[in-house]
Amino acid sequence: MDELDTLVESSRNAFAQAQTPAELENAKAQFLGKSGQITALMKGMAALTVEEKKTRGAAINAAKQAIEACLAERRQALADAALARQLQAEALDVTLPYHLRSTGGLHPVMRAQERIEAIFSSMGFDVADGPEIETDWYSFTALNNPPNHPARSMQDTFYVDLKDADGLPLNLRPHTSPMQVRYARAHARKYAGQAHMPDIRVIAPGRTYRVDSDATHSPMFHQFEGLWIGENVSFKDLKVMYLDFAQAFFESRALQLRFRPSYFPFTEPSAEIDIMFEHGPLAGRWLEVSGSGQVHPQVVRNMGLDPERYIGFAFGSGIDRLAMLRYGVNDLRLFFEGDLRFLSQFQ
Ligand code: DAH
Repeated sequence: MDELDTLVESSRNAFAQAQTPAELENAKAQFLGKSGQITALMKGMAALTVEEKKTRGAAINAAKQAIEACLAERRQALADAALARQLQAEALDVTLPYHLRSTGGLHPVMRAQERIEAIFSSMGFDVADGPEIETDWYSFTALNNPPNHPARSMQDTFYVDLKDADGLPLNLRPHTSPMQVRYARAHARKYAGQAHMPDIRVIAPGRTYRVDSDATHSPMFHQFEGLWIGENVSFKDLKVMYLDFAQAFFESRALQLRFRPSYFPFTEPSAEIDIMFEHGPLAGRWLEVSGSGQVHPQVVRNMGLDPERYIGFAFGSGIDRLAMLRYGVNDLRLFFEGDLRFLSQFQ
């Protein structure tokens, strides 16, 4: 091996030692730089004859090219290694199992409520919202409750430590029925003095409160109040409307309704609405879903309307009750315990 071959070999070794591009540039300078060995060899040719210069020059050039080739090879090797390291470091295993971040969902009672709202909206009813902390007048008096009616008692109704304008304690509304009167009064005011008042058709869903707690009663529960008042609205309209609603809500025509005589101070006559499914686990049993009745003339008067001219019906249904029947839940308390194992089944 001559001196030039040895030089190429030692450049190859020096380049192989370099582990980074900066180290490689330093190693390159030893061979190809201004004061590198190739340059020194070139300078050493000054004393040679023209003939000798030709052969020697060609040999040095060949060595220089071989060293450049070694350099290029090592550069490429270092770049490949850097890329391989980066790929390794940033590797993604797309086959790994992943955890879906849950986006949450509507509570089953809210799902039922939204369903009820959609169905009644489609039947031309307005959907109204009202206060959960009520005055004595709206919760009881306006609804024709006598002053000593048991619903007013502390055993049945939660009271708030604040008094209304009449000096009576405010209550957590024990039903959504106050919304009948609130909505109807606003409607009557709006059309006061006009020859014609459009019918009042509204539902008012929301939270209600009673001193009660067991498998079918919760101190906080949900109702929706319905009201339809006009010049010629009858019990027949209530029956047709409620059957339409029940069939839409339960997505079934295989059910029957029964209007069972009952008593409420704010309706006369009054009826409980029972439902019976013809199929499924509850088939054949009458289940109570709503109170209802023809609005009492005194209540119509309290709405600011003339009971000689306006008549109609009202109803108040349990939303939790309807949700239990629709989803096959047998204990009301499950809705309010916040257990995700239960709640996530409805998403
Ligand atoms: N407010 C009654 C209750 O909570 C339900 C009810 C019955 C509402 C008859 C009505 C009705 O509007 O006409 O038990």
